[in-house]
Amino acid sequence: MSNSEKLQYDNQNLQCRDQKGFTVWFTGLPCSGKSTIADKVAEILRKKGLKVERLDGDIVRQHLTRDLGFSPEDRNENIRRVTFVAKLLTRNGVAVLSSFISPYREIRNYARKEIGNFVEVYVKCPIDVCIQRDVKGMYKKAMAGEIKDFTGISAPYEEPENPELILETDKETPEESAEKVIKKLKELNYI
Ligand code: ADX
Repeated sequence: MSNSEKLQYDNQNLQCRDQKGFTVWFTGLPCSGKSTIADKVAEILRKKGLKVERLDGDIVRQHLTRDLGFSPEDRNENIRRVTFVAKLLTRNGVAVLSSFISPYREIRNYARKEIGNFVEVYVKCPIDVCIQRDVKGMYKKAMAGEIKDFTGISAPYEEPENPELILETDKETPEESAEKVIKKLKELNYI
């Protein structure tokens, strides 16, 4: 190993040891692009040698919160439990990337207070574009009345008032959005 390689190796290890935990909280309508962007950011951070964990609505709801539905109470309980996990990971130096619709402002603010190192990212996309994307065909079902309390159709989404970052996914590519998140994390001295 050359001296410069050794220095790079030591720096990487130092970075690992000193990693500051934080949670990037992606919120937005169904099909706005939360999971896609969070996955891309995760990949970039892993390549930098950081410890990363992804918390995603579709997956968490099959495990930790499988008993919950989509009433306002159940959605808030979903976020309350996820907040607990994100808080533990964050305080142990992990870079947490969470992607939940999390439509209610009050519980997002609760998550912010509990977790501390919290970066709220509003994944903004006009509803008609989300409906066009309709990745899982759920908007179609919701509009036909087959799914009730569907966010954007028959349940509300409260936009963040002071997010650290807004991504406009109808105007930028997932790669551009992911780079904006990385830039913000650098600005905030998390990476
Ligand atoms: S949250 O509102 O509690 O934050 P979460 O992000 O965990 O929602 O889950 C959203 C996922 O659940 C969506 O990606 C969709 O696949 C599924 N889903 C099923 N029913 C609904 C519904 N009524 N509203 C929104 N999403 C739903």
